[in-house]
Amino acid sequence: MSAPSAAHAPRASASEAPLIAMHGVNKWFGSLHVLRDVDLDVSRGEVVVVVGPSGSGKSTLCRVINRLEPIDSGDIHVDGRPLPVEGRALARLRAEVGMVFQQFNLFAHMSVLDNVTLGPVKVRGVPREQARRRARELLGRVGIADQADKMPARLSGGQQQRAAIARALAMDPKVLLFDEPTSALDPEMINEVLDVMTALAGEGMTMVVVTHEMGFARRAADRVVFMADGQLLEQAPPAEFFDHPRTDRARDFLSKVLAH
Ligand SMILES: Nc1ncnc2c1ncn2[C@@H]1O[C@H](COP(=O)(O)OP(=O)(O)OP(=O)(O)O)[C@@H](O)[C@H]1O
Ligand SMILES: [Mg+2]
Repeated sequence: MSAPSAAHAPRASASEAPLIAMHGVNKWFGSLHVLRDVDLDVSRGEVVVVVGPSGSGKSTLCRVINRLEPIDSGDIHVDGRPLPVEGRALARLRAEVGMVFQQFNLFAHMSVLDNVTLGPVKVRGVPREQARRRARELLGRVGIADQADKMPARLSGGQQQRAAIARALAMDPKVLLFDEPTSALDPEMINEVLDVMTALAGEGMTMVVVTHEMGFARRAADRVVFMADGQLLEQAPPAEFFDHPRTDRARDFLSKVLAH
């Protein structure tokens, strides 16, 4: 047998390579330049919290990572592979890159258990009974095992968001993206969701989290990324970012969000 050619040899550093690698990414909406030369690497097990003023491009940053939005230039790799454009490869990418939105996006006509079971059965081909067992386990992990058979509308907002997290986890994602997961919640429900996210972070889940919850950022982030006008202006460990922001934009932003 001949030795594998260099092109086909496994990458020696595959497990060291960043799980998400974005280089020179630009994105326009019409004439609006929403992502400007974005370079961002996220390592395995890393928790990156993205903060910044409204309209700075935080949601767009998340959405381009699982290709809910195409980019205009630059490149994005997930686990060493360029983002697929369409078809089965794109479906596989979406399964590997879980997303949790502000508005839960649970299917209203299905029980919580069916919401969590659907993806593994339809996309991953997991046998239904096995998927249901695992779904119950995940609902237990996010603290809502007793809500499994209800319809989503009968759950509180915090419970619905925890169901959405269980649904994302059911796909065994390599990374979870959260876009303001607590912004639609009543204040007393915010912590129950943040606690689940903090536990996931502690278990080594790779996470990119857009949030205004600065306490969570301080507690759970390995790195805080500050965005303004489509650019990543600062990246630093949370203590450094919060205590010594380097740019006027970040200082101004922090004075506003930490004031209330
Ligand atoms: N589908 C779209 N079509 C046109 N413009 C868009 C679209 N989505 C976002 N934008 C614009 O792109 C810019 C960045 O939006 P984005 O939603 O990424 O910001 P954000 O930082 O998430 O803001 P927020 O904190 O309010 O959620 C904004 O000016 C927004 O109006
Ligand atoms: Mg947003």
